[in-house]
Amino acid sequence: MLMEDVVVVSNRGPLSFRIGEDGEPVRAGTGGGLAATLHPLLRGTGATWVAAAMHEADRRAAALGLMMDEGLRIVTVEPDLAAYEMAYNVVSNATLWFCHHHLWDLPRRPRFDKRWLEAWDAYRDVNRAFAEVVAEHAPEGARVLVQDYHLSLVGGALAQLRPDLATTHFSHTPFADPGILRVLPSDAAGALLGGLAGFGACGFHTARWEASFRGAFADPALAGRAGADAPITYVAPLGPHPEALHEEAASGAVADARRRIEELAGGRRLVVRVDRVELSKNIVRGLWAFDELLETRPHWRGRVTMLALAYPSRETLADYLAYRAEVEHAAQRLNERWGGGDWVPVVLAVADDRARSIAALTAYDVLLVNPVRDGMNLVAKEGPLLNRAGGVLVLSREAGAWEELHPAALGVNPFDISETAAALDAALSMDPSDRAARAEALREIVVGHTAADWLDRQLEVATGLRKG
Ligand code: G6P
Repeated sequence: MLMEDVVVVSNRGPLSFRIGEDGEPVRAGTGGGLAATLHPLLRGTGATWVAAAMHEADRRAAALGLMMDEGLRIVTVEPDLAAYEMAYNVVSNATLWFCHHHLWDLPRRPRFDKRWLEAWDAYRDVNRAFAEVVAEHAPEGARVLVQDYHLSLVGGALAQLRPDLATTHFSHTPFADPGILRVLPSDAAGALLGGLAGFGACGFHTARWEASFRGAFADPALAGRAGADAPITYVAPLGPHPEALHEEAASGAVADARRRIEELAGGRRLVVRVDRVELSKNIVRGLWAFDELLETRPHWRGRVTMLALAYPSRETLADYLAYRAEVEHAAQRLNERWGGGDWVPVVLAVADDRARSIAALTAYDVLLVNPVRDGMNLVAKEGPLLNRAGGVLVLSREAGAWEELHPAALGVNPFDISETAAALDAALSMDPSDRAARAEALREIVVGHTAADWLDRQLEVATGLRKG
C-alpha cells in the first residue's frame, strides 16, 4: 500500500546506530519495541518517518546519509543534545513513564525541583522541534501519526503551524489514573492534557487506558488546567506482525539459538520470560514466585528451568541500573538456594539478542508475563504465535494484553507472588489436551488483531479527521 501522505512520528526511529570499533557508526539492534513493530509495515510504502537522532552515533549516521531505508523517507530531529537528554531521561522516562505505569514510591519520589523544571522546558523545546520538522516535511493535508508519551505536546504546536494536517496521537503505555496524574506539578499536568487535546484524536491499546485518559478530563483538579475538552478518543490494540515474525523465526540464527536452549534445558520443563530490564516488568517478583514454586512444590526441583531473557534498557537512569542489580541478585540467591549438580534453576541472560528471544518463545512450556502495569505487552502475543510446544501463558491482569487474551491465559495479580507460584504450577501440570486447546485459542485471538490492523485503524481515524 502506498502511503506517501502519511507521516509517522516517534522518538526512537527505525534505524539505530552505535560507534563501531573503527570509530564509524554501525547499525545497532532496536531490541523490539514500537520501532521494530512499525518498521516492517512502513518499509516500501513511501511514508515519511520522523524520529530523533538520539545520540552522537545516530547524528553521525544521519550526517553520513546512513539513515536510509527502501521506500521510506527517514527524517531525523536533532535538538540540542543536552536538552534532548534531559527531556528523554528526566521527563519522558523518569517522570511520564513512571506516572503512566504507577511506578512511583510516593513517600520518597518524585521530587519536582528546579532541575526538573529545566528538564520540563527541555521537553517542551524537544516537542516543538519535532513539530517544526514535521511541519517542514509533511505533504499538504497529510495524516500525521504521532506515537507515545515523549511527544505529547506535538499536536498543539502542529495545529498552529500546519492546520491542514490531520494529526493523531497514540499511547503505547497505559494512561495514569487521575489521582496519579495529580502528582505532577499542576502546570505540567495541565500542559500535558492540553497538549494531547491539541491532536485531532488520541488512541489507546485498551478501553481501560482510554477511560483513565477521559477520567482526567472529568477530574475537577485537572480539567480546568487542561484548557480544553477531551479530544476524540479510540481504542486500537496493537498486535505482532505475523509474517515478519515467522520470517525471523525461520532464520539460521534462531535455529542455532534453539539448539543451545534445548541443550541448556537438558530435557527439563522450560519457563521463559522475555522483557526489557524495566521496572514495570516485575522481573524480581517473577523470580520470587519461581522460588516459592520450588519451595512449596518440591517435586519440581531439578525438573524445571527458568530462562529469563532480558534486554538492557535505559541504562542512563540510576533506577534502571539498580533494578538490574536487584534482578541479578535475586537470580543468584535463587540458584544458590536450589541449584545443584548440573541443574541451574534460573538462567538469567541480559543481552540484546533477538534471535535467542525468538528461539525461547518457540520452545517454552510456560511463558511468564507478569508486569505490574503495561500498555499492551507484545511478548504475550508473540509467544503464542511462535510457540511449538503447546506452551501455556501466565499473564498479569494489569497488562493491556489481558483484555484480549484472558479467555485462554492463566491470569495473575502481579503483586501476588503466591498466586503467581500457583499459576506456574497449574501451567506446568496442565494436561496436554488442555494446553493444546489454550495455545490454539490464544493463536486465534492474536491473529485477529495484527500490527497491520492497528495501523489501518490509525489511518482510518486520521482520514476521518481530514478537513474538506
Ligand atoms: C516502550 C515504548 C516504546 C519504546 C520502548 C523502548 O515500549 O512504548 O515506544 O520503543 O519502550 O524504549 P526506549 O526508551 O528504549 O525507546
